[in-house]
Amino acid sequence: MSNSNTVFKTSPNGKLNGTLRVPGDKSMSHRSIMLGSLAIGTTHVTGFLTGEDCIATMNAFRAMGVNIEGPENKQVTIHGVGMNGLNAPADVLDMGNSGTAMRLMTGLLAGQSFESTLIGDKSLSTRPMNRITKPLAMMGAEIDTEEGGRPPLRIKGIKGINDDSQLKGIHYDMPIASAQVKSAVLLAGLYAEGETSATEPGITRDHSERMLRGFGYDVTTTGENGNHISLQGGGKLTACNIDVPADISSAAFFMVGASIAEGSDLTLEHVGINPTRTGVIDILKLMGADITLSNEKEVGGEPVADIRIRSAQLKGINIPEELVPLAIDEFPVIFVAAACATGKTVLTGAEELRVKESDRIQVMADGLTACGIDAQATPDGIIIQSGQLTAGEVDSHGDHRIAMAFSIAGLRANGEITINDCANVDTSFPDFIKLASAEGLGVR
Ligand code: S3P
Repeated sequence: MSNSNTVFKTSPNGKLNGTLRVPGDKSMSHRSIMLGSLAIGTTHVTGFLTGEDCIATMNAFRAMGVNIEGPENKQVTIHGVGMNGLNAPADVLDMGNSGTAMRLMTGLLAGQSFESTLIGDKSLSTRPMNRITKPLAMMGAEIDTEEGGRPPLRIKGIKGINDDSQLKGIHYDMPIASAQVKSAVLLAGLYAEGETSATEPGITRDHSERMLRGFGYDVTTTGENGNHISLQGGGKLTACNIDVPADISSAAFFMVGASIAEGSDLTLEHVGINPTRTGVIDILKLMGADITLSNEKEVGGEPVADIRIRSAQLKGINIPEELVPLAIDEFPVIFVAAACATGKTVLTGAEELRVKESDRIQVMADGLTACGIDAQATPDGIIIQSGQLTAGEVDSHGDHRIAMAFSIAGLRANGEITINDCANVDTSFPDFIKLASAEGLGVR
């Protein structure tokens, strides 16, 4: 468990130059462990994110009897046990800070023949899980939560496929655009009788669908914008090799940093540019950012590219609501870009930000205000009037992306920003400080 006293301090006037590869994609790293564990054969993963979140997923599968080697040099080898090969864990499974791990694993565990309990850290223990327990209950899953649908989750486990009792396939009309909800339903659907499908109200990241196909599982995508996803239960997964690209969510900090720090010219290598994740590029370009993509190719069913960012004068915008799910994790640092732009930036339709690792609307509004910026939280977004970032002390509330966003803000502040409670940066970006200081970001 991370200690909560890690403090970052920024120094002004840094700039970002050169070439850099940020750590592997978190969403794909989680899914590689989950699907690799349930596959037949040996899955080799390269570029794996060694952050605490993905290690929690890895440890959970180890606790259920899966032999996983690594991570060594960001490589992991998973000796899959097949769809019905997991064993009951001897203890509770600790998902740490990771909502993705908890929600996706609940879907998978609902179809097992044993009971399991998922717990999380202080932040995860406050996050809503009824968004997944509700559709899973419709499938016949039995899951107890704490009051208000909070963790721990006690999952009874319906017998796996080929046994008498089994989950039932459903069609789920998702009330919110959430890849975690979609994935939990689809992963439970692997163990369900018949077809399971989900229709999403807005397009969300499709790594589960892509990776399932990579493991040889048929997933059908139809409907307007491909927002109706279905699969048949009872199939099998076949091991494969996975090359995890750099995480665009981690790259986003440096994209904003290089945009706002005068004299910057930075290239981020081998970044995942799955179109369900590139909202941050679209938003920054609308703000006037100088971003170019090169070396575009497809690796293991996922598009990747090198991203070059040169500093530019950004301008405030009204952020189009349809881009919100496509940039859902990048808003803390987009708010920093807004503070450094000219004029006003308005975000609406983003109430989901209130139930992330922290209430990212309020925590960012408070932090920006502490650094001299006029930032007004609204129920579903924020209004930021650009201005001069000043020295200040902010509380990240243990949220990795808030801590990194204010580290980037330090580039343009006219004094030192002190950021409290930063240990959870290790959940998604191990070595952030080391990499950031090597690249010219004066954080210590
Ligand atoms: C994720 C989905 C997103 C995102 C999270 C990772 C995933 O959450 O915020 O960091 O890997 O499926 P929602 O789908 O709940 O918005």
